[in-house]
Amino acid sequence: MPLDSPLTDIERPDIERPRLLSGMQPSADSLHLGNYIGALLSWKALQETHDAFFFLADLHAITVPQDPAELRANTRRTMAQYIAAGIDPAKSTLFVQSHVPAHAELAWVLNTLTGFGEAARMTQFKDKAAKQGQEAASVGLFTYPILQAGDILLYQAVDVPVGEDQRQHIELTRDLATRFNSRFGDTFTVPKPYILKDTAKIFDLQNPGAKMSKSAESPTGLIWLLDEPKVTEKKIMRAVTDADGEVRFDREAKPGLANLLTLFAILGNRSIESVVEEFAGGGYGTLKKALAAIVVETVEPIRTRTLELLEDPAELDRILAANAEKANAVAEQTLATVYDRVGFLPPLRRHR
Ligand code: AMP
Ligand code: TRP
Repeated sequence: MPLDSPLTDIERPDIERPRLLSGMQPSADSLHLGNYIGALLSWKALQETHDAFFFLADLHAITVPQDPAELRANTRRTMAQYIAAGIDPAKSTLFVQSHVPAHAELAWVLNTLTGFGEAARMTQFKDKAAKQGQEAASVGLFTYPILQAGDILLYQAVDVPVGEDQRQHIELTRDLATRFNSRFGDTFTVPKPYILKDTAKIFDLQNPGAKMSKSAESPTGLIWLLDEPKVTEKKIMRAVTDADGEVRFDREAKPGLANLLTLFAILGNRSIESVVEEFAGGGYGTLKKALAAIVVETVEPIRTRTLELLEDPAELDRILAANAEKANAVAEQTLATVYDRVGFLPPLRRHR
């Protein structure tokens, strides 16, 4: 039996609908247009073809200091934005990581299989630790990728849609799954990275050399999904372009304009060429105005629906509880097999 499709007593992904898992950290009060295009739009499409699990990585979020009240609020707000953006809790399993204790438990076992040097090679850890000062970085930040491996392996996920920056973590996950399987017997599905296309990368409106990111220097460089329409329009109208005034797609020479054209094509569901054709000869102002209308048309219903969902936190929590139950059922099964394989004495009953 090949390792990629181990047949054990664990529930196996449905061949027709491969198991898929992805998540984000709930570390801001609003998602931005980059998150929407780079993650949520593909997730929404993938939930139609996959048995999808999407979660909020609150255990990961606390690897850097968080204000407790803010973390709690951001978790609800981010979940509301997932749903408002079209992730359907009736189709996908939508849950909060800390609601499934098996994540922390599997991470512990995987910690014991990971080499210190192997973990020390993770470039995202090095970057994040450098930002805080190596000495101040938590051990949690160091083991972050191992917790992430656990997230994926618990659900026997086949496909893991992530951005290019996460490739190394998925490689580590594959290594750990293969190592566990060869040491203890086939247990985990070895996942494949499902790297989302670079064309879905959105850049900062004020600094088009950098990707749109919540840690941006200027608040006007990114569009929050929860921005008022007027604010969104203003940000697009003020986006940095270039002085030559010619509408054509050139990522190198005209990165600001290229970003606007990309946004237009993705949100307008058309090709970049057709956008260039339509606006060639016109000024940037005309293009920006039309783009602002499309962005608002996309974002405004998400904002309205998010605020509506947040008016009824009890209903949101009910959805999360029901989904956590589905997630727990899958995760507990994998964890029980893992505990058995590594040689833990069976508990008479789980104390939950
Ligand atoms: P982050 O906000 O960096 O935690 O990223 C959460 C998700 O959004 C990941 O799947 C990223 O790949 C995606 N993402 C973040 N920023 C961008 C961006 N500027 N363009 C495209 N996707 C992005
Ligand atoms: N590290 C991912 C990010 O920063 C978030 C994440 C945590 C994740 N666990 C995961 C993504 C499991 C995919 C699968 O974007």
